[in-house]
Parts: sequence; structure tokens; C-alpha cells
Amino acid sequence: MKPLFRLSCLLVLLAVFAPQLPAEPAPARHAAGIATAHPLATRAGEEILALGGNAFDAAVAISAALAVVEPYGSGLGGGGFWLLHIASEQREVFVDARETAPGAATPDMYLDAEGQPVPGASLNGPLASGIPGSPAGLAHLAAAYGRLPLTESLAPAIALAEQGFRVDESLTRGLRFRANAARRSPAFSELFYPGGQPLEDGALLRQHDLARTLRALAAEGHDGFYRGPVAELLVAGVREGGGIWSLDDLASYRVVEREPVRSRFRDITLISAPPPSSGGIALANMLNIISGFDLDELDQTTRRHIVIEAMRRAYRDRSIWLGDPDFVEVPVALLTDPNYAAGQRTSLRTDRATRSKHLSGIWPETEGDDTTHFSVIDTEGNRVAGTMSINTWYGAAFVPPGTGVILNNEMDDFVIKPGVPNGFQLLGGEANAIEPGKRMLSSMSPTFLESARGVAVLGTPGGSRIITMVLLATLAWAEGADAAAMTALPRFHHQYFPDQVVFEPGAFSAEERRGLEALGHRLVESPRLFGNMQVVTWDRASGRIEAAGDPRRADEGEIY
Ligand code: DON
Repeated sequence: MKPLFRLSCLLVLLAVFAPQLPAEPAPARHAAGIATAHPLATRAGEEILALGGNAFDAAVAISAALAVVEPYGSGLGGGGFWLLHIASEQREVFVDARETAPGAATPDMYLDAEGQPVPGASLNGPLASGIPGSPAGLAHLAAAYGRLPLTESLAPAIALAEQGFRVDESLTRGLRFRANAARRSPAFSELFYPGGQPLEDGALLRQHDLARTLRALAAEGHDGFYRGPVAELLVAGVREGGGIWSLDDLASYRVVEREPVRSRFRDITLISAPPPSSGGIALANMLNIISGFDLDELDQTTRRHIVIEAMRRAYRDRSIWLGDPDFVEVPVALLTDPNYAAGQRTSLRTDRATRSKHLSGIWPETEGDDTTHFSVIDTEGNRVAGTMSINTWYGAAFVPPGTGVILNNEMDDFVIKPGVPNGFQLLGGEANAIEPGKRMLSSMSPTFLESARGVAVLGTPGGSRIITMVLLATLAWAEGADAAAMTALPRFHHQYFPDQVVFEPGAFSAEERRGLEALGHRLVESPRLFGNMQVVTWDRASGRIEAAGDPRRADEGEIY
């Protein structure tokens, strides 16, 4: 069996010690920390900080570098959320660059004449692609918060695309899974299946078209991608491949700045992703439910049980209420209210697992990586937690010719049909139905934790499991865990449907397993580790910055 954690693997510890006690609440001067899923992206961020850029410039450089070196996870053809802390103003802002449904999208666009979902239609090829948000996000971060022009902050990514880099197993492994879908896209196949065979570990990958697209973004900002020659190539390629994008869809794409969701757990303030992410609301709700129990008084099995029951209830509400707040009214205040959680606790028994279907809500008709995260703190105390995605491995596995841009398959995060679970087995209803221009519901949860102890900047890929991974890391931080321990923590997950607890090997002791099963939980051991968490922490007393990447191997950790 593979060792559970290979601590040597991605642990990036960039601890820098500050010379004196910091003035609160900004981190000590002279200390900065970066944690990303790829060493070349970390290096891009370091270069930009060394050039005098701030955390926001570094975020641009890191996001763009990840688009080049993790083409399976995120990129210009996808979307993202960047949670910012602006130290000079002591405020947070959430930059929402989530994809939107094209103008010609309809609620039943993935159903056949009998009203049944067409297998794979929302996952493969350009019909599965929302209008990308990431390029707009990068342009916005640079223009509104950065100190450097895009020509400088995008330079490391352009160099990586042009000069190439040696591919690793995470990249090549994903290709084996996408071989069938790739046949529909000659431009995708040429890049990743030269001579008809998937790239092998150690091969040099150069992406000239992507470099050209990045240059257009660097030179002209937002319009370099959303109007003019790049936009024309994108739309032509999409339509040729059976998609429905229009030039107007691209020209009208806008980033939205939103208020993050704030909640309290013990002495910790949690600042996290608002709708169209479900992360902040679900985290606040789960922590509120858990707050009603004195965990220290409970045995370990019961503690686990309470956390699982909190997960179940928060994901039930996710399926009912959550969607794009610009289209549907999301009851944020209600769902994050401690009194609402008190109501939820009345159905929670410490001696028995609740059956999900006994909680009224959306239930299926019949029962029967993809994303990346980075965390940065700069010497001025600015922070960024960024999670970006093209959804599942290599997104739609489609590149419009001449662009080098891998398109997302994020449309699958909408509800394809009420009662039909999506690729992450998530359910949803009207609130997350497809409408032109609407953002599909997300689980991406870039998060800040703040307390007397200091600050933690965190997040992870992992689809529906993102939120529960951030929950477990938050509970660990509340117990005193450091950045490395937060990322190494064995994980378990419940999402209301399917009514089961998925857990990583080693997450539960034999006694806990027996105990949880006796309470009525169905436990399913995951064949793979999940997540790829990146955490940067700042310790208020010492001024110490610690950055840790997930010790799980990237290839094991990013998709399930
Ligand atoms: O936005 C979401 O919730 C998903 N599209 C994220 C996908 C993801 O994390 C895949 N990675 N493992």
C-alpha cells in the first residue's frame, strides 16, 4: 500500500523569521509566505515579490503560472475566486471570476428528447464550457490592487509557456483519463498527445499559442482576451466544435466584487467565499452547529459523529437554497445565523446517525483535479487565498485552435435536471438551474481564519469535498494545529447525498469505525487521498510566517 503521506513531496516551508514583534494586525515586515500546488508557480510568485510586487501581483503571477504548469487544473479557459485582505485599509474583498452560462444556454440543454440527461454532454467538448472568468480576474487584480503592470506579472507564465517545462506525473496521469474526449479536439490532442500518444513524464511541454494569448492579455488587459483576435478564435473554435458561445458573451463578461461571508467559531473569525460559492455559508453553518456541543467533553467517536451530522445538514441546505445571488435570492443571513443552527441541532441525536432522506429536501429520483489553490501573505500583511478551476481533469478537453486555451466543463456545476446528481454527486434545485449569464454554484472556498493567535490563509481543490476539508482544517487550527498539520490531516466527508461518509485511509481508528457504524453511519474508504491544500499562517506573537503544501502526492491528491 502507498504510504499515507509522503511528507517529502510537496511540503514547501518558506518560514522567514521577523526581527521584532509585529504591530498588530498586519504581519511582521520582512516576512512573506507562499504555498502553491507547483514549485514553478511558487517561484513565479517569489520573483514578482522580489521585483517589488505586492501579494496581489504575486497572485496574478501564480495564477497564470499555474494555468501553464497545471493545465489540467485551472487556466485562462476557466474561472476562479480570489479572497483578498488589503492591509492598508484593513478590509477584505472577494473577487468573483466564476464562469457564466452562455447567452444561448437553456435549462434543458443537456437533456434528450425524452427529457433524460445526455451522458457526458455537460462534461466533454465546448458545449460543456461556461464563459471563462479567470483572464478577467487577473486583469482586475492587477488593475485594482496590484503595483505592477500585467506585462511584468504575467512575464513568468509567458516564459514558462514559451520555453516549456518538464511535465510530471499529475499531468500525464490525467491525460490517460481524457484520451477519448481529446479525440474531438485536434488542438488539444496536438499539445498533449503528440503522435497520438499521451505525453510521458519528463517530456518538455511548450505552449506557444497559450503564450500568445497570455501576451495579448498582458498587452491589452481584459479586452486582450474578451475582444479582438483572441475572442474571435475562441468563438470560432467553440462553434466549430458544437458549442454555443458568441462574441457578445465574451465582450459582456464581468468580474464581480462581493462581500465575503463572515462567521465566528470560538475566538476565530472565519472569512470565506460568498455565493456563487457555497463554501462560506456551509462553513459558517457547520461551525454554528458544532458550536452547540462541548467537543472536549465528548469521546472521539461522538465528536466525529457531530462533525459528520453538521456536514450532512449544511449540504442539504446547499442543495436547496444556493445559486448565483445575482439571479436568485440566497438567504445568507438565515443560513449563517447561530439560531438557525440551533434549530438544526434539534434533529441531531448523539446516539444515532440521521438518515439524509429523513431530512426534507431534494433527493434524487432514483438512488442508485481539476482545480488548484494557493495562499500568499506579503511583507505588508496583504493576503490572497485563490482557488481557480476548469472543473474536472483537463476541463472539457477542448482547445479552440490557435488559442492554447483549455476550456472548462464548469456547466456541470449547474443542475442539469432536478434530482439528478452532478459529476461530484451534488444535488441541486431551481436556485442552481441554468440561465443565460448565470454563474454556476461552486464549492471553491478560499478562506482566512483570524484570531488572537494570528492568521491562516487556506483552501484546496477537491470538488464537493473542498468545504469539508476547509472545515476540518479550521477545527484543527482551533485546536492549535500549524500549517503543516492542517494540510496533513486525514480527511472525511459527508455531503447529504449519497448518504455515506467517505474517508481517507487512516482517517478513523478501528474503534472509531466500529463506533460510527454502530451509530448507523455508512463508511466508505476512499481508494485515493483527496485534496491539495495550501496554507500560509502568520503567528501574531512571534511574527513567524509558515507556508505548507499538502503532503499528499499531487497525482493522488487532486481528484477522486
Ligand atoms: O467550483 C467547483 O466547486 C468545482 N468546479 C471545483 C472542481 C474541483 O475542485 C475539482 N478538483 N478536484
